[in-house]
Amino acid sequence: TAARDPLPRDEFAGLVASLPRKEQFLDGRLYQGFWLPEHYLPGVVAFQRRFTPRRPDDVVLVSFPKCGTTWLKALAFADVFTDGHEAMLDRLPSPRLINTHVPYPLLPEAVTGDGGCKVVYICRDPKDMVVSLHQFLRRLQPDLSFADMFDSVAVDGTAPYGPMWDHVLGYWRASLARPDRVLFLTYEDLLQDAGEHVRAMARFMGRPFSPAEEAAGAVEAAVELCSFEKMKGLEVNRRGTSGSYKSMPRDAFFRKGVAGDWVNHMSPEMAARLDEVFRDKLRGTGLTI
Ligand code: A3P
Repeated sequence: TAARDPLPRDEFAGLVASLPRKEQFLDGRLYQGFWLPEHYLPGVVAFQRRFTPRRPDDVVLVSFPKCGTTWLKALAFADVFTDGHEAMLDRLPSPRLINTHVPYPLLPEAVTGDGGCKVVYICRDPKDMVVSLHQFLRRLQPDLSFADMFDSVAVDGTAPYGPMWDHVLGYWRASLARPDRVLFLTYEDLLQDAGEHVRAMARFMGRPFSPAEEAAGAVEAAVELCSFEKMKGLEVNRRGTSGSYKSMPRDAFFRKGVAGDWVNHMSPEMAARLDEVFRDKLRGTGLTI
């Protein structure tokens, strides 16, 4: 196996050090309007400046953290390629599925411009996202405050890759402007009818299921293979730690896998406040999450 390439840290150290900083659960730096985790920033900048998609079949899978990344990757039969491992990315055979949390305005021009490639985006009810992120990071920081986490999503937008509303709106608007290039999904959509969305995603990626595959139950098989229970139960996900996120146990990526778990973690007042913030931010855009 090929050795992993080091992050281009030294190259971008000066840039990173010059950016506004917020110390929090994942130390953030404000880069071009978004709070990016400091640790991943060199990789994001390298991606933004250097990534060139291979047309026509590269697909960039994007999510706001804790909104269904793992599920989307599985459904797109993907693997993880983050952290600016550029040479590794170059060595991958086509078609490549590249996964990132990068906000739309920070995507490389080579992806969003005329010669670019397809992008699939997933987001989720922010209430469930906050709970999911808090539960996730608590695996490494047990005393992590839920109130701080809530404020970072609902009040000042400093959550990792936030503000969430700007992140979501970037992809929403792009999906309206270029529906052939940006597919916008929600976690709740997938829960409601994964098969329909697997079909739509396959069509969008230019690899629709054939009538023979449909008849053979390939869609249902893909959905089953990627189901929460199935993935959670896999040996590889029950043991060990994630390669892309410090020493996070892999099982932390599979917690409950439902919509609406926020009721067990948040007061009705907090929920109403979060709803109101997002209603306000998304007003007039045609999007409700
Ligand atoms: P919960 O914490 O609400 O359970 P991400 O993959 O972006 O980190 O998002 C994590 C969320 O997706 C977690 O939500 C996790 O349980 C859920 N999830 C992971 N794999 C899933 C799957 N195959 N089907 C449905 N949900 C899944």
